[in-house]
Amino acid sequence: MEHAVSTCELTRVFGSFTAIDKLSVNIRRGEIYGFLGPNGSGKTTTIRMLCGILQPTSGSGSVLGFDLLREPEKIKQIIGYMSQKFSLYDDLTVYENLDFYAGIYGIPYRERKKRISEMIEMALLTGREQDMAINLGGGLKQRLALGCAIISQPSILFLDEPTSGISPAGRRAFFKLIKKLSGEGTTVVVTTHFMDEAERCHKIAFLSEGRLIACDTPDNLKKSVVKGCMVELELPDVMDRVNDIEKLPYVKECSVHGLMLHVLLETAGHMEALNLHTKARAKIIRPSLEDVFITLARQEKRQVS
Ligand SMILES: Nc1ncnc2c1ncn2[C@@H]1O[C@H](COP(=O)(O)OP(=O)(O)OP(=O)(O)O)[C@@H](O)[C@H]1O
Ligand SMILES: [Mg+2]
Repeated sequence: MEHAVSTCELTRVFGSFTAIDKLSVNIRRGEIYGFLGPNGSGKTTTIRMLCGILQPTSGSGSVLGFDLLREPEKIKQIIGYMSQKFSLYDDLTVYENLDFYAGIYGIPYRERKKRISEMIEMALLTGREQDMAINLGGGLKQRLALGCAIISQPSILFLDEPTSGISPAGRRAFFKLIKKLSGEGTTVVVTTHFMDEAERCHKIAFLSEGRLIACDTPDNLKKSVVKGCMVELELPDVMDRVNDIEKLPYVKECSVHGLMLHVLLETAGHMEALNLHTKARAKIIRPSLEDVFITLARQEKRQVS
């Protein structure tokens, strides 16, 4: 079995609203696979279906060889899952939280101590074993939650926005752990709307309004999606100028990134005209994943309207 997860036209409808529309993906073993998309695009719905928690309306799929529609209970038992609103017990210590989850997963008593100390070491919580969960900072809490989710040593792990609300340093530390798990062979399916995190995934699936609009490695997406010459310029009054620049005939796209404007030109030959028009100096850049997403979102909009 090459794929840890495989779906075919997986769909979930709530009433008359289609939250996920015919999602077909293949996730390789040991891969870090990221679902990226704006709020409401269907990331949580997808993860919940793949975990066997939410029944698909139609379509099919399998996780580690188990059928999503017929064997959701089996799937629940073998995966690790950290939900978007993961629950730690605030009034239990770090050690007690891990012990509690070890109990839920039915880890035999004789193995628990060893497993818990491995998790404490993995989550860089050594010395904090007796601290109450409520007293941990955001990054530590998230790492403890990860420890709880993988105490049963699952070979596939689902993480729904595991790093929301923690500092950039905390997020980096968390992703290092994910990388390590993947290096050891664990398949990691993660949702995020942080581009820097998406950048660290082996493969990214972009969701927009319940539909998969692109799926590839970060590098391939940058090469294949953004067609033209991407340049960056610094303009003091960037917000006032963006509409005007967007209308230039050789400009395909325009987006604001802080003080910087990213402009997608038909070709590099249009740089001079842009410089003259803006009285700034454009510099060729490699498109970022954010640029990829902006391009994809605009393409979608054009197709719909
Ligand atoms: N139980 C439900 N009943 C009705 N609608 C739902 C239900 N669960 C999700 N939805 C809707 O489905 C859509 C997708 O929601 P989902 O939570 O999967 O998005 P998301 O990408 O995880 O968003 P976020 O980034 O905010 O977490 C949303 O419009 C949401 O309102
Ligand atoms: Mg969500």
